[in-house]
Amino acid sequence: MTDGAPKVGTERLILRKWRASDRAPFARMNCDPLVMEHFPALLSQEESGALVDRAEAHWEQHGFGPWAAELCESHEFIGYVSLFIPQFEAAFTPCVEIGWRLAREHWGKGLATEGARALLRHGFEILKLPEVVSFTVPGNLRSVRVMEKLCMSRNPIEDFDHPSIPEGHPLQRHVLYRLIREDWKAMNSR
Ligand SMILES: CC(C)(COP(=O)(O)OP(=O)(O)OC[C@H]1O[C@@H](n2cnc3c(N)ncnc32)[C@H](O)[C@@H]1OP(=O)(O)O)[C@@H](O)C(=O)NCCC(=O)NCCS
Repeated sequence: MTDGAPKVGTERLILRKWRASDRAPFARMNCDPLVMEHFPALLSQEESGALVDRAEAHWEQHGFGPWAAELCESHEFIGYVSLFIPQFEAAFTPCVEIGWRLAREHWGKGLATEGARALLRHGFEILKLPEVVSFTVPGNLRSVRVMEKLCMSRNPIEDFDHPSIPEGHPLQRHVLYRLIREDWKAMNSR
């Protein structure tokens, strides 16, 4: 993230640019089998570092990307919440995807939803995005629940095979959730 990139605050989170000190705890998350349960593979330290490099490059190119998430109370880095432009082609691309990955000890407290709500506001109000999507494997019930809590909606006819996952792989099938700006505005003007 560039120095000028916006910090986003919530009640319990600071969403900010990445720091060199985030890389070690992020690499620990990316080799935790529970955190990576719904991804094809655990990441090595180098692969985890390359992901941070890609996050920073996305910021440079687009002015948004994955925000590092820090707890207000302890200033601990706990993962990321992101707005991201996927590189693969599918029926619903080009698009902006909202996503999240937190260290397991911070799950179940509403933090992903809290961070994502703030990024939806940023995406719709500041970036003026017409729509935000999210996708995951159907078995990632925690992530699906976050999408539902954000009032994103799924049409099963839009379920898709992720082009980056090999044919026949158990993680190939994905569900797609969408939220358009008009619906978000209607929900947030009440
Ligand atoms: C997905 C993830 C970010 C959720 O973070 P979180 O901070 O725990 O999310 P929240 O607390 O905001 O919401 C989680 C919801 O899932 C629910 N949940 C937890 N386990 C569940 C399960 N086994 N089945 C169904 N729902 C479940 C929680 O009860 C909560 O819903 P509620 O508020 O209605 O009770 C976190 O689990 C994570 O980092 N997972 C690994 C990375 C990942 O899979 N990222 C998504 C890739 S698409």
